[in-house]
Amino acid sequence: MGIEAGVQKASAPAKCILFGEHAVVYGEPAVAVALEQRLQVQLTPSKSWSVGGSQLQSERHPHIVALKDALLDDSIPPMSIHITSDIPRASGLGSSAALSAAVGHAFATLAEHKNISNEALSTLAHQAEAQAQGGLASPLDTSTSTEGGVVVLSDKKETFCAWLYTRRLAVPTGERVWEVHSLELKRNDDIYLVLGNTGVHAPTSAQVALVASALEESPERIQEIKAIGTISRRGLDALQRGDYTAVGHAMSENHVLLRNLGVSSPELEDLIKAALPTSLGVKLTGAGGGGCMVALTRRPKETAEAIELAGGRTFVSRIGNAGARTDDVNI
Ligand code: PMV
Repeated sequence: MGIEAGVQKASAPAKCILFGEHAVVYGEPAVAVALEQRLQVQLTPSKSWSVGGSQLQSERHPHIVALKDALLDDSIPPMSIHITSDIPRASGLGSSAALSAAVGHAFATLAEHKNISNEALSTLAHQAEAQAQGGLASPLDTSTSTEGGVVVLSDKKETFCAWLYTRRLAVPTGERVWEVHSLELKRNDDIYLVLGNTGVHAPTSAQVALVASALEESPERIQEIKAIGTISRRGLDALQRGDYTAVGHAMSENHVLLRNLGVSSPELEDLIKAALPTSLGVKLTGAGGGGCMVALTRRPKETAEAIELAGGRTFVSRIGNAGARTDDVNI
């Protein structure tokens, strides 16, 4: 085993939303956890900048180019970037945020920005994500992938978890402001998340637009959004107490409200129904319409088997894993 000169490695986790998707767009709290599934990047000195053997281009690699412009100057020699990942793409598990978080860490190490904070790195990752998505992205994915553990986002400082920082983003209509918090977990050795992927891709922007037009048509439905916020707070309280039976109940209640909002799908409902008998709670996770569902369970093998039998692809993870980090370069 040796150390290859000039090689940098970094990795970052996938995320899964436990509570509050869609309602977070209207200022209610949302809770996301870092999963065991990770994306790794390796930088190796090279004659020119490349990603997976192709030339680095802003149209194809907008996140990487934005981070390179922000963190590296001309004194840094070109690198070949190699990405490996066990996070499915476009499934609501934050694969592009993990890419931004891991590349940010690798570039910061390369440029010897020794004192750069997680807050600064997650801000850069968020800006790269927003730029790549045409201006708007919530910081939930990038903050969770950068910080790891359990991250809570809200439009105000919440008293039930530790406040980390305020995140601002300039958007065409002005400025969006989010308060980012982290939550310490009690020991949860026998608790697992099983993610079930429908394999159906539904763009987040279309799902968000669906909720927006439902609210435009019937403004009183904002009560359903507020009800999701109430459940998020209840779920967070249960997480804090380590009461996973109550966490599961809150997840299932959250799902009923999401389904009523119109953001579930027949494929998601099939996987959710299959997982219910062996789970503490089950819901869709992320924007819905396809993508993934998540089950909280003490019987991960049985839950995963039931989801697979119903046609889903599964991943098992514990709750709250390490955030983005520079990894060993021993090879
Ligand atoms: O599917 P994802 O991971 O992109 O999550 C979307 C979460 C929403 O609340 C629906 C949108 C948002 O910007 O928070």
